[in-house]
Amino acid sequence: MIDMLVRLYALPESQELYDRVQDAGVILRRPGAYEKHLVEAFVRQNFSPKWVSEVQVAFSRQPISCFIATKDKEVLGFACYETTGRGYFGPTGVGEAARGLGLGKALLFKALEAQREAGYAYAFIGGVGPKEFYAKAVGAVEIAGSDPGVYVDILPEPPSES
Ligand SMILES: CC(C)(COP(=O)(O)OP(=O)(O)OC[C@H]1O[C@@H](n2cnc3c(N)ncnc32)[C@H](O)[C@@H]1OP(=O)(O)O)[C@@H](O)C(=O)NCCC(=O)NCCS
Repeated sequence: MIDMLVRLYALPESQELYDRVQDAGVILRRPGAYEKHLVEAFVRQNFSPKWVSEVQVAFSRQPISCFIATKDKEVLGFACYETTGRGYFGPTGVGEAARGLGLGKALLFKALEAQREAGYAYAFIGGVGPKEFYAKAVGAVEIAGSDPGVYVDILPEPPSES
């Protein structure tokens, strides 16, 4: 899977997107340290153990390098940055039932704007995934020669006990 590059200095305007999400009753925010186990549980249930590990890295930073989308006090999606490596965006995911409502894009913008605020000019989207989503949302382009990139010799998950 290839990595993509995003020009943070050329990010499109995001306010309209945030307004739309807010009008739908969704809150976009960083999780508190006291919610670490709850965000991990969401990611474990909906995605993968490896992403749980990366979420744990996000929670080891201050400010916590993660944003969540919540509605009625339930997690609907998450986006981390600065986990796989410095300057990286991801992992990110929206629960299946909440997809297509603009949450993935809004979370992507929140994280990329935080990276820009931290002083980066560019962000890397590691091991993509839905290339068209990133190209359309933030003009991301593929990085030539980045497959497999940093993702080499990855340990397999142990067989499940069930
Ligand atoms: C990728 C993902 C985060 C997108 O979240 P989402 O909330 O469904 O996406 P949004 O509703 O914000 O979509 C924003 C736009 O991207 C488009 N889009 C969404 N998913 C897309 C995909 N997989 N491919 C191409 N375009 C996509 C939407 O049509 C929408 O277009 P519009 O702005 O013209 O209306 C979600 O599908 C997901 O969790 N997938 C599984 C995990 C994953 O692949 N994570 C990324 C790893 S690199």
